[in-house]
Amino acid sequence: MRLLERLEQLYAIGGGPGANRLGGSPQEDEAHDLVAGWMHEAGLEVERDEAGNLYGRLRGRKPELPEVWTGSHLDSVPAGGRFDGALGVVGGLEAVERAGQQERTLTVVAFRDEEGCSGPGCVGSRALCAAWSASRPSAFVELHVEQGPRLQEAGVPLAVVTGIVATAKGEVVFEGREGHAGTTPMAGRSDALLAAAEFVLELRDAAAAVEGAVATVGRLEVEPGASNVIPARVRVSVDARAPDLERVDEVLAAVRAELSRTAEVEMAPWPTEALREQLVGLGVPVIELASGAGHDAGVLAAAGVATGMLFVRSLNGGISHSPDELSAGEDIAQAVTALQGALVRLASSVDG
Ligand code: GLV
Ligand code: MN
Ligand code: MN
Repeated sequence: MRLLERLEQLYAIGGGPGANRLGGSPQEDEAHDLVAGWMHEAGLEVERDEAGNLYGRLRGRKPELPEVWTGSHLDSVPAGGRFDGALGVVGGLEAVERAGQQERTLTVVAFRDEEGCSGPGCVGSRALCAAWSASRPSAFVELHVEQGPRLQEAGVPLAVVTGIVATAKGEVVFEGREGHAGTTPMAGRSDALLAAAEFVLELRDAAAAVEGAVATVGRLEVEPGASNVIPARVRVSVDARAPDLERVDEVLAAVRAELSRTAEVEMAPWPTEALREQLVGLGVPVIELASGAGHDAGVLAAAGVATGMLFVRSLNGGISHSPDELSAGEDIAQAVTALQGALVRLASSVDG
């Protein structure tokens, strides 16, 4: 299948397997250039905005109407998988090409730096929404892998997403005092890493005590970072998520951390209904899932765009942010068919 070959080509960038396409890296640029070439081949009008987001437009018969968008991101986490983000762009391109010209313009977008491995994430979609004037799309539909085990457990290939969880992301810094590892008595030390270690465990306990919450420390930066020097400063990344902001705040209050927070968002009825109809048409049981992962769809939804998301079953127990991420070709083929149908439905409407 062309789509799977394209995913492999993207995965090979930077010397894959498991290679990085971190947001802002030359590898992310290379992925954008590769996809821009495929957009040209498909006869789309290719454009980039100031934030570096990439667009491929199939002009509608009524180009004055607000457009219908699909897409996702091309950056990855370190040693990420083949599908996270890339599927939504490559699958979106496939769906738009197959849909052909509609009343409204159909646009495939590849947003920059969604993952936010060392920042807030969704850099491209946030920049776009911050600069938006009147020409926002009437709808956005993002295709994505589930990144969890629920569809595999249910034995169902696709799901309609109901909403995206609330998050808090940022850094907590612990200060101590450098000293000689061999000559400073244990009693007199101020070791920043010990304080950070206690924090990491408290955060785990705080998240475990709140229904539906999760929290992760994925990065520690220890200064000066030498095996024979007592740590003087430690930066701890924090990523906390829960079904709503109240519960995220409960976790943060328990560990006394103040971080930048993003509220939960709901998907909109119009595109969600269009996706639901496609699943019914394909004879796929309609499962509705909330997303524990963040997505550009959340940023567009929060900015007021009618947004929907379609999940494809993740295999291997739902593992993601790992080279072991896996989805089946047949499930992806069904997802592209459903996405195509939903885009046609949304782009053939001339109301609004
Ligand atoms: C993106 O994958 C995120 O949810 O962190
Ligand atoms: Mn993603
Ligand atoms: Mn991701």
